[in-house]
Amino acid sequence: MNDAVFQRCIHPQCGATVAVDDVSFRCPKCGGLLDVAYDWNRLKPPRSLQDFQSKWSRRTDPLCFSGVWRFHDLLPFAPPERVLTIGEGQTILQRSDAVAAFAGMEPGRLFLQYEGLNPSGSFKDNGMTAAFTHARLVGARRAACASTGNTSASLAVYCSATGLMRAIIFIGSGKISYGKLAQALDHGALTIQIAGDFDDAMARVREIATKLGIYLVNSINPFRLEGQKTIMFRVLEALGWETPDWIVVPGGNLGNVSSFGKAFQELLELGLIPRAPRLAVINAFGANTFFQLYERFGVRWNDGSPDQQKVEGYYRSLDLENIRAATLASAIEINRPVNLNKALRALDKCGGVVREVTDQEMLDAKAKVGAGGLGCEPASAATVAGLKRLRLDGTIQKDERVGCILTGHQLKDPTATVAYHSSDPKTFQEVLGQRGVRRASFANRAVQVPNELDEIIKAIELFA
Ligand code: F0G
Repeated sequence: MNDAVFQRCIHPQCGATVAVDDVSFRCPKCGGLLDVAYDWNRLKPPRSLQDFQSKWSRRTDPLCFSGVWRFHDLLPFAPPERVLTIGEGQTILQRSDAVAAFAGMEPGRLFLQYEGLNPSGSFKDNGMTAAFTHARLVGARRAACASTGNTSASLAVYCSATGLMRAIIFIGSGKISYGKLAQALDHGALTIQIAGDFDDAMARVREIATKLGIYLVNSINPFRLEGQKTIMFRVLEALGWETPDWIVVPGGNLGNVSSFGKAFQELLELGLIPRAPRLAVINAFGANTFFQLYERFGVRWNDGSPDQQKVEGYYRSLDLENIRAATLASAIEINRPVNLNKALRALDKCGGVVREVTDQEMLDAKAKVGAGGLGCEPASAATVAGLKRLRLDGTIQKDERVGCILTGHQLKDPTATVAYHSSDPKTFQEVLGQRGVRRASFANRAVQVPNELDEIIKAIELFA
């Protein structure tokens, strides 16, 4: 098994390989990102994606039940008996005609992949089960992450549910929403609030993980991204193994888009799909490094040699002008995405695009997603807002089949939601107005009535 699975530098010119049990998650030769790599000739990849369908009838087996591990054959870095799962990945792909109409799509063409149904309420659990499986293989006892909230919530859940490791989480002071902070505290993680933002916390945690030998579960960990590939496998599964035309995903640290690109690349190599969908990454306007680099400065994968000078120059200009990431979608409030190069590769392989959306657009889209039956957090709604833009600029056609990834649950960030729907101008102003949101066009305001039967009946007759 061991030789058939290894880690490999993503840059083909370097191509250095590292053993599967190495936990530095950095190329020893060039410092680049690593992939989990497979010698498929020595493994047993499925002959057809339909092979996975029989798993559901065997769902008393935790490896068949898990929405991640029922695809074990496509992420076979650990033997099945070493897999650590808490039943993640029971998520749904829902057709949403109401949201389609809002985004400018024809009925039956928009599907929402609802990752909020995971045990910790976000897509992170897909990756965390894979990271924990690897952590157990290497005997780790402590795990750390920097987080805008969801990675930390997921880490805290997995630590408390499995008892495998002690969780140490780094968050920017005042930078994560209440729902996520509540999870970290309730599940017993050591929670370190540092004066700074996510980008500061990320730099620190890498330093500390190396110094103290703590297992890092940020998406720089390639094993986490192996688990996140299964989000795409489930989208395909729900579409009867047909490839959609587009996948739209929010961009923060760019782990998801990287793992989706790898998933499709591998499925193509294995001859399991005839074509890959195109990928659209949506940045928040106030945290738009990927948009700037890709769409404005034209930085490309360039066969593994992206223009590093342009990237460094951009980061220097952010520092010089003291620009920090700033968006209500705190999940993606990130200006230095660690997976930038992998994301460039993914867009290269899948013909990708990047767009940015304002907080206003995101919150309006979020209200529409909520009214359509699924609740998501602001960062997730960036996908629907982004799709609307991609329709308007003619990139996506109204009859193309699109999957938007709703990455996190509505209850992760109740503050923004309540403020949007609030009838109290002060609440709106404090939470949203100060951040540039002007209107709540799709607000569902609570109706204030005196505690009198006639008045209450009148209100019901008037509004319902
Ligand atoms: N959506 C949500 C709800 C997230 O929590 C994140 C990232 C993203 C999108 C962006 O995903 O990093 O793969 O591009 N949250 C991280 C965290 C950074 O710490 O929880 P990405």
